[in-house]
Amino acid sequence: MAGLFISFEGIDGSGKSTQARLLADTLRRAGHGVTLTREPGGSAGAEEIRRLVLEGATDRWSPETEILLFTAARRDHLEKTIRPALLRGDVVITDRFADSTRIFQGITRGDLTATVDTLHDLMIGVEPDLTLLVDLDPAEGLARATARAGSEMRFEDMGLAFQTRARAGFLALATRFDRFRVIDGARMPDVVAADVLAAALAALQAR
Ligand code: ADP
Ligand code: TYD
Repeated sequence: MAGLFISFEGIDGSGKSTQARLLADTLRRAGHGVTLTREPGGSAGAEEIRRLVLEGATDRWSPETEILLFTAARRDHLEKTIRPALLRGDVVITDRFADSTRIFQGITRGDLTATVDTLHDLMIGVEPDLTLLVDLDPAEGLARATARAGSEMRFEDMGLAFQTRARAGFLALATRFDRFRVIDGARMPDVVAADVLAAALAALQAR
């Protein structure tokens, strides 16, 4: 496909949404076609699934049911938003993608890695060209996420131990795949953004 596919990953409150927005603005100003999107969501059907998975009690869904719901949302997002944008030649910037399922459903509450990987291969089958892991201490992330609290708190409500396992899982994934760049998210937003931009420009050049 002609475009470039970039994902942001990291624990809740690490600054992904802020950085995704800043990168999209900068690339647009430089003349690139940019599609800024997010998961769960990013298409009409997937946004409906978003409400099901992010609101309500922590025990509303089992990890297995979550894998199915997140994968269904991702498939719709891929069909309706990501693929068409890449075919147009856009830079697609998504706030979370399949690595979030690998971590949050795959390892944080028991080992469901094989299930996640099998379903990914069957239904999704693509990876980003570049994944920016915004790394942050989980206590700081939870404090930031709680300060902005709304109705979508189901995963934040799973607590600090859950986010700590997620952080370690993301860092381990980053050592497994070449497409990852780990960005220190504990700095001022504009300082973080400079590292993000450098990684994105390098990927654009390598395209
Ligand atoms: P995420 O999408 O990873 O959950 P957000 O970008 O929504 O994170 O940021 C979570 C909160 O922290 C927001 O209120 C945001 O304004 C704030 N924030 C984002 N980046 C930083 C930063 N580098 N330093 C301090 N606060 C930040
Ligand atoms: P998001 O809106 O990115 O929340 P935040 O801005 O707080 O990081 O994602 C909402 C939650 O959904 C987040 O806690 C992680 C969870 N999630 C999964 O558990 N699996 C997934 O596959 C995805 C995409 C998200």
